[in-house]
Amino acid sequence: QGLFTYDPGFVSTAACESKLTYIDGGKGILLHGGYPIEQLAQNADYLEVCYLLLNGELPTDEEKEEFVNTVTNHTMIHEQMSHFFNGFRRDAHPMAIMCGVVGALSAFYHDSLDINDPYHREVCAYRLIAKMPTLAAMCYKYSIGQPFIFPRNEMSYAENFLHMMFSTPCGEYEVSPTLAKAMDKIFILHADHEQNASTSTVRLAGSSGANPFACIAAGIAALWGPAHGGANEAVLVMLNEIGDESRIPEFIERAKDPNDPFRLMGFGHRVYRNFDPRAKVMAQTAEEVLSELGVENDPLLKIAKRLEQIALEDEYFVKRKLYPNVDFYSGIILKAIGIPTNMFTVIFALSRTIGWISHWNEFHSSPNKIGRPRQLYTGPKQRDYPTK
Ligand code: CMC
Repeated sequence: QGLFTYDPGFVSTAACESKLTYIDGGKGILLHGGYPIEQLAQNADYLEVCYLLLNGELPTDEEKEEFVNTVTNHTMIHEQMSHFFNGFRRDAHPMAIMCGVVGALSAFYHDSLDINDPYHREVCAYRLIAKMPTLAAMCYKYSIGQPFIFPRNEMSYAENFLHMMFSTPCGEYEVSPTLAKAMDKIFILHADHEQNASTSTVRLAGSSGANPFACIAAGIAALWGPAHGGANEAVLVMLNEIGDESRIPEFIERAKDPNDPFRLMGFGHRVYRNFDPRAKVMAQTAEEVLSELGVENDPLLKIAKRLEQIALEDEYFVKRKLYPNVDFYSGIILKAIGIPTNMFTVIFALSRTIGWISHWNEFHSSPNKIGRPRQLYTGPKQRDYPTK
């Protein structure tokens, strides 16, 4: 039927060309602009990686200074936007608020929505990179009934985010350099990952000419699911549910049971048939952060490490090449930083915004077409409407 190939889940379909990110899933390699993720996580900071993804090259010192200044100038949110939050239930999930408020940016910043103008596209990218931490922290503050905290522009990107999350009008949160560094690494490790479900959603939404804020809101919605970005929250829920190393085999057996929908969260990946390189950096960072905080015996880290060990020796996981992915250890670090579980996916969204907007920009900078997949029709054959 038809002249097209049938590829549910896009297992073997490339939908675009891109210069941003390279993945070799067999070897466990991830490069941004040609640079290995391990080196970026070790040596760069998040805003440098943002610059790299947007421009294809690392910035010089002057370019970096200018970029950081520009981003810093956009960290505030229009004051009227804070009223928009009041429409949400007081105990709404922060991701639910995030889907709404990011889409609403297009109602406040419509002076830069000409998608055919490279300058407008650049301004939208700056606005998104700068405002996502502010919005993310506002979602959290709203969900716990605390007043919003304004950004502090003399702080680094990660420090400022932690400040807006944890300071209150009654007391300034003292940002630990170790935790800020760990936060920045988490941002870098989530920055881009080629055509995952949310990025493909952003590109597809963008292909219709929709404005970038609406496209990123679509990406946030796609990210929320537990098979994608929602997995980081689900991992922590799972580790807490396991509760004790003695219960790991029970959960492994459940994950292997074809009649049980349960899966080991933070395990498996469509592209990686080897270690997810981000998971390796994440595991090492978790060890560093916990030892720095003097909690190297964290019970959840112990359960996670043992679970990984048992799964990697089990024929079921070995045969299917299921390894820990980026979400497996990130929650342990976020928890150590003091981030509540329901903010984990919001932090993924904040970090991935640079990937989404860079792909959106790349789409509009090259010859393009609206995305329009076909389908195999399986419904009834043509028939006549019954007349009495
Ligand atoms: N636990 C148990 N079995 C699994 C798991 C798992 N986590 N992941 C895959 N399998 C099995 C699956 O049941 C299937 O077995 P069989 O061949 O017997 O039917 C086989 O492995 C292949 O799985 P699949 O669902 O066809 O693979 P996929 O490429 O469509 O799915 C995935 C990839 C990430 C959605 C899946 O591995 C999964 O659900 N993992 C848990 C959720 C998770 O950690 N997601 C985060 C992904 S990484 C970050 C991100 O991109 O957001």
